Amino acid sequence: MFGKSKYIFYNYRLNQNVLERRSPIETKPIIVAIDGPAASGKSTTARILAGKLGYTYIDTGAMYRSVTLRVLREGLLDEIRRDESRITELLRTITIGFQGERVFLDGEDVSEAIRENRVSREVSFISSLKPVRDKLRELQQEMGQKRGIVMDGRDIGTVIFPDAELKIFLVADPAERAKRRHAELSLKANGAAVPGIEELEQEIIKRDRDDAERTHAPLKQHPDAVLLDTSSMTIDEQVSFVYDLVNKIARQ
Ligand code: CDP
Ligand code: CDP
Repeated sequence: MFGKSKYIFYNYRLNQNVLERRSPIETKPIIVAIDGPAASGKSTTARILAGKLGYTYIDTGAMYRSVTLRVLREGLLDEIRRDESRITELLRTITIGFQGERVFLDGEDVSEAIRENRVSREVSFISSLKPVRDKLRELQQEMGQKRGIVMDGRDIGTVIFPDAELKIFLVADPAERAKRRHAELSLKANGAAVPGIEELEQEIIKRDRDDAERTHAPLKQHPDAVLLDTSSMTIDEQVSFVYDLVNKIARQ
């Protein structure tokens, strides 16, 4: 009896070693592009997946949010609405960077400030401007050069890395997404008022429509992207689904 379980244990260890030796990092670091509408679970999936793989996670939405935050802080929104070229000077002097999961705008940690609802409401307009997309595309493509990255956004599979070995398009019901966003905002609210679920759902639907209908780099599923509906999935399930795909591809 004891001998048998020892044998099983030995086999298990052996399998573990084989798995470790064949981990994606050692075989072939790839680019994983995750796109989809607001609150479909992109950043949650991307962050956990990157951690499991030892890859770098790049949240491109945080970059567009950072540009928007700076516009709002400088009180330039109305001027830019009247004359788009007013954003060019701001883009010349902006710096956006990541340290782990923290986002830095001009050297300041803005990880919380960029999630405020006033930023969420204006970010689609700022993201639709060509000079903004040109600037961030350049930065994002540079960040991906070393491979071994998980990048999430709206145009990663279609524009930034159309050759990414794995492209995922995450979707979920708007009502479910609004519930998730509400829970997330409530958790971080610290006593501050949080918009209701219905209001959030309307904002999400509007933002998705604006992102999908814009001229430059609209939200769109790449024909090669794997579609995943997370409406009734747990976070663990959605991460495992993508993780299994990475393992298959990285070992080919
Ligand atoms: O987390 P959530 O889904 O609310 O949005 P996000 O990923 O932080 O992105 C915020 C906004 O940035 C989106 O609604 C888009 O307008 C814009 N965005 C974009 O245009 N292209 C990307 N690659 C990423 C974000
Ligand atoms: O990045 P994106 O806006 O697509 O979504 P997210 O910020 O990753 O996810 C929005 C919220 O939904 C987060 O609070 C997640 O924890 C939560 N959530 C999820 O991503 N997947 C589920 N199956 C359930 C909840």
